[in-house]
Amino acid sequence: WNAERMLSLIESYLAKEISGCKKVLAAVSGGVDSTVSTLLASRVAGDKVVPVFVNHGLLRKGEAESVLSSLKSIGIDVIYVDASEEFLSSLKGIKDCEKKREIIGEIFARIFSEISEREGCDCLLQGTLYPDVVESGAEIGADRIKSHHNVAGLPPWFKGRVLEPLRYLYKDEVRKLAKYLGIPEEIVNKHPFPGPGLAVRVIGEVTEEKLEIVREASSIVEEVLRKRGLYDKVWQAFSVVGDDRWVGIKGDSRVDGYIVTVRIVESEDAMTADWFALDREIMEEISKRISSIPRVSMVTYAITTKPPSTIEPC
Ligand code: XMP
Repeated sequence: WNAERMLSLIESYLAKEISGCKKVLAAVSGGVDSTVSTLLASRVAGDKVVPVFVNHGLLRKGEAESVLSSLKSIGIDVIYVDASEEFLSSLKGIKDCEKKREIIGEIFARIFSEISEREGCDCLLQGTLYPDVVESGAEIGADRIKSHHNVAGLPPWFKGRVLEPLRYLYKDEVRKLAKYLGIPEEIVNKHPFPGPGLAVRVIGEVTEEKLEIVREASSIVEEVLRKRGLYDKVWQAFSVVGDDRWVGIKGDSRVDGYIVTVRIVESEDAMTADWFALDREIMEEISKRISSIPRVSMVTYAITTKPPSTIEPC
């Protein structure tokens, strides 16, 4: 396996495919897969590629700003759509996770269709990886596990052609390509993040309060792991919050606080995963800091492998 050879294969594929497109809509999330796909397509086809970054208001702490500046630093000039209000108001009152995914998928589709029409895009670039192809195949069977909305294949709203230059690669291979291309470290090593974002890490209705808790608690987990040199050693590390409560004492008062669950997993490709055994001292630091978030009164640690669990709570 050699980055230079792989790049030249992918670029030839893209040159051939894009020559049959009027314009290509590249949906960029700021993750390594979509960033590598977009950068390579832009190298091959320049202005024919229209990168679009949609902020659904369900991103990690500070993520929109850092994605925009990282993309700019490598010459990817995106159309930025801040649709936070629309996504969050459409999720009001929705408790069921699959319903949340469906609503989020529909809004994304509408935004991308409108931009495709306006910009004259007849091709769509996706950062699909090999495990996505395998898992989406598995999901066609009788038991759909979760409806990830970016699995391989033509999205029903899109009338044109889909280009998937990374569909035979694994994440570690894409990270090697990204490093070779000089993509900033914060994108190369960023943990995978689900398309519907924090909506799947808030169990039950996505309220402002729960969203704020999960965003802050996840940022604490990431910060502690980075400080301890563990961030790059694990596959994903985040927090989850639901509606269950635990009575706590803050100052002299009783608090009807939220329970935050911390999930840190090791994995090769997300098809299977193991929970990460943290040292007590690190657990203590994470626990103390998350417990100091005003409405949180209990921190738990998720210790179930995939399978039988999945990585995200829903
Ligand atoms: P699960 O929870 O199914 O997740 O074990 C496997 C991997 O996929 C990510 N994930 C998603 N990625 N859209 C995505 O792009 C989604 O809807 C989605 N749901 C889960 C998850 O973070 C893990 O790395």
